[in-house]
Amino acid sequence: MVNGPLLLTIAVLGGTGKEGKGLAYRWAKAGYRVLIGSRSSEKAVKAAGEIMQLLEGSSSVVGATNLEVAGQADIVVITVPYAAHRDTLESVKDVLQDKLLVDVTVPLVPPKVSKVQMPAAGSAAQEAKEILGEGAEVAAAFQNVSHELLLGEDEIECDVLVTGTSKKARTETLTLVEAAGLTGWDAGPLENSVVVEGLTSVLININKQYGSTYAGIRITGAQNKQTER
Ligand SMILES: NC(=O)c1ccc[n+]([C@@H]2O[C@H](COP(=O)([O-])OP(=O)(O)OC[C@H]3O[C@@H](n4cnc5c(N)ncnc54)[C@H](OP(=O)(O)O)[C@@H]3O)[C@@H](O)[C@H]2O)c1
Repeated sequence: MVNGPLLLTIAVLGGTGKEGKGLAYRWAKAGYRVLIGSRSSEKAVKAAGEIMQLLEGSSSVVGATNLEVAGQADIVVITVPYAAHRDTLESVKDVLQDKLLVDVTVPLVPPKVSKVQMPAAGSAAQEAKEILGEGAEVAAAFQNVSHELLLGEDEIECDVLVTGTSKKARTETLTLVEAAGLTGWDAGPLENSVVVEGLTSVLININKQYGSTYAGIRITGAQNKQTER
């Protein structure tokens, strides 16, 4: 499915938004070729320029339409509001065959975003798999990481639980988590994404009740390659 890590091209659909731009910045900084996707190529080019400015020209980030960037990438990451999830995936479905989709979407249903409200498929990531069919692998990650710290250099005290349709999909996604400067954990099959996506509403609830803006989660009592460092 993929080449050597730093030769990989990552497309971020909806990369003009808060979460996508932050992740794109971190991957570009780590040396990946990053493409920003949008419904509007002008908007994508502008967001790519903003990221390059933050990186002081050390990396090249390109912006284009969601369809164009999905077609050019090895790994496609989707960071759009749940209301736009199905339409965005259907618009790129044909070019996602034989690729890995990393779904960051949380199925929040405004206005009650602090209440868990899962779709009929089980989770947004399972819905993505249903939409894309057999040809694409799907992993889900980053749903509990607030965008607030992604564009900065401070440590992010939130681990990333990675679920996916295969061990390979999870392993490739864990590499992206590490490249983004975060600690990732293999959290099992894609069905487990229901818990991870649901946790986001729990964290939003905690933020509301305790006056925080980026409450996160951390796994304790276990060690992996990253936590041993
Ligand atoms: N923000 C966070 O801290 C955070 C944390 C964890 C997970 N998430 C999840 O990540 C996803 C993105 O969150 P976000 O805060 O980055 O969202 P956002 O900034 O509101 O939107 C991201 C991008 O999605 C596209 N979009 C928005 N409405 C759309 C529509 N109706 N149809 C098609 N595309 C649309 C836009 O791109 P274009 O206009 O350029 O097409 C927008 O820039 C969500 O599912 C969210 O739950 C967010």
